[in-house]
Formats: sequence, C-alpha cells, structure tokens
Amino acid sequence: MSTTRTARSRKPGRAFRTRAGRLQSWLPLRLPPHRASSSMLAGAYPFLSPPPPPVDRALVGTDALTGERFAFDPWDLYAAGALTNPNVLLAGVIGQGKSALAKSLAIRSIAYGRRVYVPADPKGEWAVVAEAVGGTVVRLVPGSSTRINPLDVTAADPLIARGQRLRLLTALVEATLERPLAPPEHSALDAALRSAVGVCGDRQVTVPDLALALADPDPVASRADGTSVTERSADGRDLLHAVRRLIRGDLAGLFDGPSTVTLDRNTPMLVLDLSALDDETLAVAMTCAAGWVESAIVSPDSGPSWVIYDEAWRVLRLEPLVRRMQAQWKLARAYGLANLLILHRLSDLDAAGDVGSRARSLAAGLLADCSTRIVYRQESDQVGAAGAALGLSTTERDVLTALPRGTGLWSMPGRSYVVHHLLHPDELAVLDTDQAFRLATADLTGGPPC
Ligand SMILES: Nc1ncnc2c1ncn2[C@@H]1O[C@H](COP(=O)(O)OP(=O)(O)OP(=O)(O)O)[C@@H](O)[C@H]1O
Ligand SMILES: [Mg+2]
Repeated sequence: MSTTRTARSRKPGRAFRTRAGRLQSWLPLRLPPHRASSSMLAGAYPFLSPPPPPVDRALVGTDALTGERFAFDPWDLYAAGALTNPNVLLAGVIGQGKSALAKSLAIRSIAYGRRVYVPADPKGEWAVVAEAVGGTVVRLVPGSSTRINPLDVTAADPLIARGQRLRLLTALVEATLERPLAPPEHSALDAALRSAVGVCGDRQVTVPDLALALADPDPVASRADGTSVTERSADGRDLLHAVRRLIRGDLAGLFDGPSTVTLDRNTPMLVLDLSALDDETLAVAMTCAAGWVESAIVSPDSGPSWVIYDEAWRVLRLEPLVRRMQAQWKLARAYGLANLLILHRLSDLDAAGDVGSRARSLAAGLLADCSTRIVYRQESDQVGAAGAALGLSTTERDVLTALPRGTGLWSMPGRSYVVHHLLHPDELAVLDTDQAFRLATADLTGGPPC
C-alpha cells in the first residue's frame, strides 16, 4: 500500500486574528507531496502502530497519542502471539514513576487472579503494597529471629534440586570471592553439597551443613573422584571462607539455618523486605533471598505470577549473580512466571562487564529475554545507548528525553506506544514514595508537609 500526503488548505484566504487574539491563517500551505510505503512511514511515525491486541486485564492508563485505554497482561499478549515472552524491562531516571507503574500492575493484576512476588525489596517500599492487598511481608533484619534458608528447594527431582542449589552457591561464592571458580573448586563444591544432602536425609540442607562438608570432605567420595581428602580440603578452602560470610560474617543469622517462615501459596503477594541491610551486603542478600523465593514458586501449579525485581541494577554489577538470574529466568518461563526487571538506564546492563566479556553478553541475554521494554525519561547522554540497545528509531529516541513523570515508551515486537500511567487516588496513597522526602523537607524547614 502506498500513501500520498498533500497538505491543502480548506479555504484560501488571509491571516486573521482569532477571538483569543492568536494569528491564524487559511493560506495554502505548499508542500511537495510525499509518497512512501506504509512500512517506511511506520519507521518515521512509529507510534502509528496498530492498537494492541484486545486485552481486558490490568488497565495501565491511556495511549498518549490516541487517548485510547491501554491495558497490559503479558500472559494474554503472549497467548495472542503479540509477545515472544512475558518478561518486561522497565528503565528510567530516578523518580519518574517506575516503581509506581510496577506496583499498579501488581495491584491490578491481582484483581484478575495473578500472584505477585517481590524477591528482594531493598528500599522497603513494597511492604505497604503487600499489606494493602492482604499479602505477606517477610522482613530480614540482622539480629531478628526471621531467617530464610537459600538452599530450600521444592523440586521433587533430586537432579533439578541439586542444579538449583549449585547455581545459587556458585553465584554466592563467586560474588564473595570476586573471581570465577576453578574446576577443582567446582568439584569440591559439588562434592560438599552431595555429602551435606546425604547427611541431612529428609530435612532441607542448610549453609552450615555445607560448611561442615567443605571443612571435612567425605573420604569415600574424594577417592571416587580420584582425589584425596587433603587435596579436596585445599580445593575447598576459599569456598569455606566465602560460605562462612553467611554464618559468622556480616550476613550471619539471616541465611544460616532452616527457614523460620514458610511460603503461603495462596498469598496474593509476597514481599521480602531487605531495607534493613546495608549496601555492602545487599547484592549477596538479594541473591539468597531471590533464590529462596524463586525455588519456592517454581512449581507446575504456581500459575501466572509476576516476579518483580525493583532496583535490579544493584545485582547486575556482579556477573555471577547475573548468570544465576538468567538461568532462573529460563526455568521460570516454563512455569508461567513473568519477570519484571527495573533499572535506571540501559547502560546498567553494561555494568556487568567489559565490552565483549561473558558478563556483558549475559546481561544482553536478559534484555533479549524481555519482549516488552518500557522506557521512562532518560538523560540525553543515555539516549544513544538506550536507542542502540532497544533498536529505537530516531523518532522514538527523541521522545525519551521529553517524557513527563508517569509516561513511558512501551516497545513490543513490531509496535510501540507512548502510555500515560494513570494512578487511582487510593493507589497514590500507597505508592507515594515522595512522601518521606516531603516530610523530611518539612522537618528541616519547620513547615508542614506540602
Ligand atoms: N503516573 C503517575 N501519576 C502521578 N504520580 C506519579 C505517577 N507515577 C509516579 N508518581 C509519583 O512519583 C513519585 C516517584 O515515583 P516512583 O517512586 O515510582 O519513582 P521511581 O522511578 O521508582 O524512582 P526511583 O528511581 O527513585 O526508584 C511517587 O511519589 C509517585 O507517587
Ligand atoms: Mg523505584
């Protein structure tokens, strides 16, 4: 199909002044006609996308260009063939409404029977949302009696269970040692896990069980692996130091024993509040906590659920954690989980490693695994990177620096939209993260909060 655009005046005449005092003219506007195929015009005017497939669930707001209602349910859209996977990436500068959008999507999806998991909430801003929808909040506070065991798994198949635990342990140890494990260390970790699981029998293995097995390797297993107990102990020495961080170090008491909380599968929303932890420990704690939640929810009867990683950029700095996250995502897809990854800028993904490094390609893999990309306002120096990473046209890039709070560019395969996220006043009461800032400012100035 081709389209011809001519601009003609409706009525030749002179310029005149309107009642509001503005100058207006019906003089003919002489522009050369422009002829282009509809696919070329779609490049120039990307927002003239077809309307999204009809989705009734989870209203987001309005399409900024058409004024039409805009709803989003990744499972319905995936089923309709409009998405290649249900995962979503959400990026935008500070304070633009990323968390507000994620919280609205969560609250509104729950109304349609979806569940929501927030495996790590570093700012402690999701607890109020979970409480508002009758969900569950688990607060991990150093010195408190609440503890979760990152090695808890629900998988009945021992091979799957071992794989989940090994991936988590490898990520933890590599993140703590800040280097990849050598092959003998991998073997030592694997052997220690087998031995600890064997000792524990029916009960869930814990981190101290693993530390014991690393400190005192099983002689029979060592011989079977063609090594000696002395060599195996030496291979596991650094691993033991890393694991002890969870037992005697800065994370002691949080992840070093049987879980004191069990996951209620009927809860509409589960939030793990990590706001009491400092920046030093946060990435490792986020990994333990996320590992626990994900293993608990990855089951054939989990049903469509959101898994929301707010402030995910903190984890993306550490390659082992990105690797574990990606492995978990692949698994999650089979169980109908939709991951929502929240970043500040697309270049957060580059922080995983140097150009050409494995870490970079892992982070790029996470992006590729997100069929929906929502971009809120970006700083002008970030627009090039965002445009390149997401394959945005010049028109779409131009929009990124001008987006007001609560408005984002939604990019899905073959279509994009600019969407105003509309907040209900009742939601605003729960989602208002500026409130603490206003109260603090009022304290400083002695005035009432605005
Ligand atoms: N669509 C919207 N309409 C009206 N207010 C909004 C909207 N979205 C967000 N806000 C308000 O903007 C403030 C900041 O929002 P929010 O905390 O979601 O931003 P953020 O992008 O997650 O920030 P950060 O990067 O610091 O995490 C909140 O007080 C929230 O109530
Ligand atoms: Mg936020």
